[in-house]
Amino acid sequence: MSTTDGAELISHPDRNLAMELVRATEAAAIRSSPWIGRGDKLAADGAAVDAMRKFLATVNFSGLVVIGEGEKDNAPMLFNGEVVGTGNGPQCDIAVDPIDGTSLTAQGRSHAISMIAVSDRGSMLDASSVFYMEKIVSSNEAIGVVDIRKPLAENIRALAAAKGKRVDEMRIAVLDRARHDDIVREIREAGAGTRLILDGDVAAGINAARHDTRIDMCVGVGGSPEGVATACAIKALGGFMQGRLYPQSDDEKQRGIDAGLKFDHVYDLDGLVSSDNTFFVATGVTDGELVRGVRRSGPLITTESIVLRARSGTLRRVAAEHLASKWLDD
Ligand code: FBP
Repeated sequence: MSTTDGAELISHPDRNLAMELVRATEAAAIRSSPWIGRGDKLAADGAAVDAMRKFLATVNFSGLVVIGEGEKDNAPMLFNGEVVGTGNGPQCDIAVDPIDGTSLTAQGRSHAISMIAVSDRGSMLDASSVFYMEKIVSSNEAIGVVDIRKPLAENIRALAAAKGKRVDEMRIAVLDRARHDDIVREIREAGAGTRLILDGDVAAGINAARHDTRIDMCVGVGGSPEGVATACAIKALGGFMQGRLYPQSDDEKQRGIDAGLKFDHVYDLDGLVSSDNTFFVATGVTDGELVRGVRRSGPLITTESIVLRARSGTLRRVAAEHLASKWLDD
């Protein structure tokens, strides 16, 4: 495994950056927490965006937002193309999702996270012109075994064999959407079980790539930006991922072609993020299988985060206690 030497520290993100980024996802999760279950997803997202941007501004790096809150005119902050950080230190690509699961947060449901992914400058696929991507995410056992071009039932059976599991023990996560009715039927007809998720396919994808979870594979169509961010995490987990762009109209497809994107093409992990020097950090907004949500207990606010680093292949959990008086109005 290669290590980061002194010269590389100047141009590549290094391990210290990860801990700095956690401060930004913690801040976003804490600031959005008063909005949990309040039915206002824009307010929750706005609070998270604001907090994340303020913290990112203090981090010593130059982060080009490849995946942000959208185009500049619609997104006043953290828009695609914006450069965040102090400008000193490594030059990176950055993907931000101050809340993945804004509706989950507004409804007070589980599995909302705040996340940031970082990689070497120029290494993240800019898929922002095409909203949706068909994805398949799993653990290392799927490498060379699963292929998005094959029928799903075949993939499930092959993965079960590779994992040494019975097919009826397999759990496949998929967003609960009408567009996935056929997929859901295929999973069940194959003899496996579904894990229908309301939102948040980043966390579900990460759980599919980990070994101590109940999800074996995450499939279906979700956001393209979320797909690229997920890829940064999957690299650190040594897992498997493929994606295929899923345009909604000829116009959208043409915009993608103009932006250099490929259709009827399977993007593998390297196609989604070409660098092996990726970081992914996430803090729980609401409780989930990946991380616990923000909790207020008397004078304390507690957060749980994960920090993944591809170079070292580590997933660290960061439990933090924050003095509530420093954060929220009572
Ligand atoms: P938001 O937090 O932006 O609402 O995204 C949640 C999410 O579920 C993503 O995790 C997923 O990739 C995408 O929305 C799916 O899109 P749609 O809700 O249109 O099916």
